[in-house]
Amino acid sequence: MISCIEVDKLFGRRKALDCVSVHVPRGEFFALLGPNGAGKTTLLRILMSLMRATKGNVLIDGRPVSRDDMALKRRIGYVPQRSNLDKALTVKETMRFSASLYGVPPVKANERIDKLIDMAHLRDHCATVTQRLSGGMKRKLMVIQALIHEPEVLVLDEPTVGIDVGDRRALWDLLRSYHQRGNTICLTTHYIEEAEALAHQVCLLDQGRVVEDDNPSSLIRKLGVVTVEYYDQTSQYRHFAVRNDAEVFADGLTGDYSIRATTLEDVFFARTKRRVA
Ligand SMILES: Nc1ncnc2c1ncn2[C@@H]1O[C@H](COP(=O)(O)OP(=O)(O)OP(=O)(O)O)[C@@H](O)[C@H]1O
Ligand SMILES: [Mg+2]
Repeated sequence: MISCIEVDKLFGRRKALDCVSVHVPRGEFFALLGPNGAGKTTLLRILMSLMRATKGNVLIDGRPVSRDDMALKRRIGYVPQRSNLDKALTVKETMRFSASLYGVPPVKANERIDKLIDMAHLRDHCATVTQRLSGGMKRKLMVIQALIHEPEVLVLDEPTVGIDVGDRRALWDLLRSYHQRGNTICLTTHYIEEAEALAHQVCLLDQGRVVEDDNPSSLIRKLGVVTVEYYDQTSQYRHFAVRNDAEVFADGLTGDYSIRATTLEDVFFARTKRRVA
């Protein structure tokens, strides 16, 4: 459904994206992971045709994305990394404004607004102006705002950054239920457990390049499903396909160690050699 083909993006001489090719089938839950500055936002902005690629193509159902293609834009909902909420509008006014932008008829809009506000547990804050909302409430509002026109594809740039566990789980449920209705989700996140919990396809981006693109369990299997973690001046991680090999290796260590299941965070760390949140 979404195809990025050999996409380059240059900012001056800095290459933010370097020959990025990714294919996201319809109905996929896709997560884009990568350290700060990896190029995640840049790729999403090109997908939303808010920015042009220097080279390469981005297609949705075989059609190149374009700023003027309103029919295509109506099929996508976008939650940007930074808040785009009008501080002076209330929660309900924000939703009504989005509905009018997308030409949702008022009766239908009211029905959807009610449903979405309940899904986001924002009922008690309908009349609150957005500048008085907590960070988590704002993020939830941004997500339901992007769903008002019932898009088939939802693109989210770090939707759960800085929000507490309760709100994060509520947002996860909202995304899962939207995905279960057959829709496609592309999200970026710094929370690797979020990608592990939600996504079926994970793309690791590092310094503008795709370093992995697969489902979480294959990524873990490729690295080795058992990890020995130990300390030797710095924390060390060794990965093994079977527990027995991990135990033999650990027997030879002099200090403390732990043997545990490999996580997506291990994959991320091994492939980028950096830590994220
Ligand atoms: N408008 C711009 N002008 C110049 N350089 C930019 C611009 N936007 C992004 N960059 C650079 O492109 C690279 C990728 O940035 P991008 O925002 O896409 O990263 P990111 O993966 O979203 O990072 P983060 O996790 O911090 O949000 C960075 O080096 C950044 O400094
Ligand atoms: Mg970003």
